[in-house]
Amino acid sequence: MSYKNNTQKQAWYLHKPLVALAPMEAITDRPYRSLVRGISRETILYTEFTNASGLLFGGERVWKMIEFDESERPLIIQIYDSDPEKLGFAAAMIAKGHRPDGIDLNMGCPVRKVANRGAGCGMMADLTAVSEAVRRMVENADGIPVSVKTRLGITSKSEILEVGHACIESGAKQISIHGRLKADRPRVPADWEAISVAAREFSVPVMGNGDIWTEDDALQMVGHEGIDGVMVARGAIGNPWLMERCVQALKGEVVDSPPNREERIRVALKHLELNVKDKGERRGVLEMRKVVRNYIKGFMDSRNAWMKIIEAESELETAQILEDFAKGEQEYPFQVREAS
Ligand SMILES: Cc1cc2nc3c(=O)[nH]c(=O)nc-3n(C[C@H](O)[C@H](O)[C@H](O)COP(=O)(O)O)c2cc1C
Repeated sequence: MSYKNNTQKQAWYLHKPLVALAPMEAITDRPYRSLVRGISRETILYTEFTNASGLLFGGERVWKMIEFDESERPLIIQIYDSDPEKLGFAAAMIAKGHRPDGIDLNMGCPVRKVANRGAGCGMMADLTAVSEAVRRMVENADGIPVSVKTRLGITSKSEILEVGHACIESGAKQISIHGRLKADRPRVPADWEAISVAAREFSVPVMGNGDIWTEDDALQMVGHEGIDGVMVARGAIGNPWLMERCVQALKGEVVDSPPNREERIRVALKHLELNVKDKGERRGVLEMRKVVRNYIKGFMDSRNAWMKIIEAESELETAQILEDFAKGEQEYPFQVREAS
């Protein structure tokens, strides 16, 4: 029986509908994940990507990146490295210490210092490394499912076929495909049809990733044959409601009303509070700036508030600006499609 038809197993990758908050460095940290979980019980959460060598040789700071609360389950820890052996060791340590619901291999990061060393998207160039990395992770993960998040390719959209098959043959239980090539700028539209072409070939569940900005996008993405679910990235920045809206739409349920100004600010304030608690005031406030920008985006007075927020240095100051903004008249934002 193929995985796709096996409804008996309750592993996260067999959930229907399959909706995930994509791993995003400096975004999908504990504060934000807990916020999303408070809104959506079913969304699959990922940690920010973490280097396997960093876990093996680094200190507490690296391990802190993959800590999670039990309430965050289903929770996947994502790691990357160029060295299959280190990936295997890291998987063993994660399995022993954390027992997440899954361990994901990042094979999509295009950043030069990662990809040029054969990690992230760079690993796609070496099928032996791909097979070996997944095999070692599977062998060491103590039964915890191993998945892979990758791209369509480095230079050609058909590379995903060989890479995906190599992952599956080595034991990967799920594949997430970002519908862009390594060099594509984020503004290049994600190619959902190319994801579908690959997904139809694969025997494991596939989540499509790229340009999910609304629940309608999610419906259209899974309308492509072979795509089992959606993984939301930039669309979720400052929009923790989006994943639940996708869950509801994909289940055929009535989708919640969009959050109004007051609700947006209430949640933005909570996010700020959690972030400061987790990271200290200075870092917590600075990191929240780009995120807050999206919470308040699309209103007549957004720019005004934003100009004040980038000047604010304390939690109190930032919170005060947000509270003042909440009193504005326009209840709903104009429709804004892109997060940045
Ligand atoms: C700020 C930021 C950080 C990211 N960090 C990661 C990461 O840690 N791991 C990963 O696999 N992808 C990472 N990505 C890529 C996203 O998960 C996703 O593949 C990409 O943004 C495409 O989806 P989108 O068009 O919905 O944004 C990151 C993207 C952004 C914008």
